[in-house]
Amino acid sequence: MRAARARLAAAGVPSPAVDADLLAAGVLGLGLGELRAAALRGTALTAGQAGRLAALVARREAREPLQHLLGTAPFRGLELLVGPGVFVPRPETETTAGLAVEAAAQVARSGRRPLVVDLCTGSGAVALAVASEVPSAVVVAVELDPGAHAWARRNVDAHRSAERVRLVLGDATSAEVLPELDGTVDVVASNPPYVPPGAVPREPEVRDHDPALALWGGGEDGLLVPRGVVARAAALLAPGGFVVVEHAEVQGESLRGLLAPPAWEGATTHDDAGGRPRATSARLARPAGTCAPPGSAPSQ
Ligand SMILES: C[S@@+](CC[C@H](N)C(=O)[O-])C[C@H]1O[C@@H](n2cnc3c(N)ncnc32)[C@H](O)[C@@H]1O
Repeated sequence: MRAARARLAAAGVPSPAVDADLLAAGVLGLGLGELRAAALRGTALTAGQAGRLAALVARREAREPLQHLLGTAPFRGLELLVGPGVFVPRPETETTAGLAVEAAAQVARSGRRPLVVDLCTGSGAVALAVASEVPSAVVVAVELDPGAHAWARRNVDAHRSAERVRLVLGDATSAEVLPELDGTVDVVASNPPYVPPGAVPREPEVRDHDPALALWGGGEDGLLVPRGVVARAAALLAPGGFVVVEHAEVQGESLRGLLAPPAWEGATTHDDAGGRPRATSARLARPAGTCAPPGSAPSQ
């Protein structure tokens, strides 16, 4: 274990001790606590286990994502299946999902079944978090990349959520996708691609393993897809409906500009758990003279 940690540290892996422990725990079929207890007792690995661990450490040394090696990524209490071909869900997206959960729960408290759309769903992370945390919610999730869509399908099936999470293969920015839902949706959540063309990610795990379609947002500022998502959200949402879009730290002002009056109300940029401004929300304005339905939130 000491050697594994040292090798990962030398390869520049940001959290070598945790990664080595998680890989060893995976090989032994133990939880982290059990692994550490076994290490304290001086439990030796069998030759087979040591060989499997060495192979995994070599792949992590070459900067394959830890989550690809483990086969899962944690997300708001869920374990999502991930691997090559799908974006690994990130901790900051738990904030985006949390805002969608809160908005959907508010609708549920008013006695209605919330209708939630996750645009650019990837592994299905946001859609499944909402479905598991708001049991009355009906969720529709859209993904353009057939490879990522297949991972979302596995996750929806693994979480036995197929009756409440409908997956759609298509362009989330197209008016031809889900036109039947226009004007009826309570919450739209999205973590779209938003990296601008010049900003090549430094970490090999991201640069070499996250699918290109998941990273590059298009246009000079990386906001071509997010702009399309906001336009699509404006059409999908019922008046007073809630949208939340994730973005890079430097893009909050641009997102608030896209979610501005008169079409939108109360645009607010939210910090993630690390204190970085990473998601902006707003509500679709109601036509003048109409009042808020019971249970809908006042504008922030
Ligand atoms: C940054 S990843 C986020 C995935 C997931 N929402 C998450 O947070 O883990 C963006 C996802 O959007 C998908 N995507 C890119 N352009 C799209 C489009 N026009 N319509 C639908 N999905 C798109 C990518 O394939 C990728 O899965």
